[in-house]
Amino acid sequence: MSLHVAVLRGDGIGPEVTEEAIRVLKALSLDFTFEEALVGGAAYDATGHPLPPETLALCQKADAVLFGAVGGPQWDRVEPATLRPEVGALLPLRRELELYANVRPAKTLRSLMMASPLKGENGLIDLVVMRELTGGIYFGQPRERRNDGELAVDTCLYSKSEVRRIALQAVKIARNRRREVTSVDKANVLETSRLWREVVDQVAAENPDVKFTHMLVDNCAMQLVRNPKQFDVILTENMFGDILSDEASMITGSLGLLPSASLSDPRGNKVFGLYEPIHGSAPDIAGQGRANPIAAILSAAMMMEYTFDQAPAGRKIEAAVEKVLDSGLRTADIFEPGTKLVSTSEMGQAVATAVAAD
Ligand code: IPM
Ligand code: MG
Repeated sequence: MSLHVAVLRGDGIGPEVTEEAIRVLKALSLDFTFEEALVGGAAYDATGHPLPPETLALCQKADAVLFGAVGGPQWDRVEPATLRPEVGALLPLRRELELYANVRPAKTLRSLMMASPLKGENGLIDLVVMRELTGGIYFGQPRERRNDGELAVDTCLYSKSEVRRIALQAVKIARNRRREVTSVDKANVLETSRLWREVVDQVAAENPDVKFTHMLVDNCAMQLVRNPKQFDVILTENMFGDILSDEASMITGSLGLLPSASLSDPRGNKVFGLYEPIHGSAPDIAGQGRANPIAAILSAAMMMEYTFDQAPAGRKIEAAVEKVLDSGLRTADIFEPGTKLVSTSEMGQAVATAVAAD
């Protein structure tokens, strides 16, 4: 059976970094089918909508989606705002494809350890933010989301079943790690957080092999800077996860290198997922061969592990990336004196060669 991947390159540096991820996947010598579709500003320009129906239909029939990045200054003022790439493509994709479990690993690569703003050992972290992605304040019912010019309202909603399914995903991921989940909320203020805590406690009681603790979100933001090593899996709701995942990724010092997975429930025997770098479309450097393809390549590694259940292939890609970095190759964003500056495609080629040689 061929592994069917929908490829949504998007805008800015999205196309060029996705190209390198595909190059590396091809080096695995497996039977892939890659099928392309338009998304984001590119889709808006070509069709008038950032998420054309054909694109959604392709994602619905594929096993996984490889996603580049969307957005750019030329679409920031498109009206209505629902046709802008972020709100008009990314959020509906998450919602329509039920990608409720957003996995954002923040792992420091040893060869880039000095890039962490927390110098030395403290910056050597290995944690995962498990962010709820299809609920909360991002998706308050339209009737409650309004702006009449004088007053604006967003509503935060969570149901028990939404909390339960993301907590179970955290359990699953923790079992392959240190088995420690920190559930982050604002239960001293918010009703949704109190419901969150109640459900998480229940899931914790059902899964005694995983150690659960609760932490308030403001404290978590502080602890991430004070002692980030204490964290294994951070489980949290949509907006807290948006903020904390940026904070955690910055601690690794190499935001441009981090991948992510957004997972849904299994379709047949495969976990459907969308895989994308956490960085954006970086329009200022697009098309110049300066972008770092490593986040896209590591996202492809996550795809091998989560959707195709081929963790060894994923690890092979990760090992190839580390090997290439250890050998001193650097794209412009992580270049330092004494290393060798390479282009986007040279970096992708080097990783692909290391994968094929393994
Ligand atoms: C992210 C981004 C998005 C989000 C934006 C672009 C809508 O910040 O994926 O973290 O807030 O979820
Ligand atoms: Mg974000």
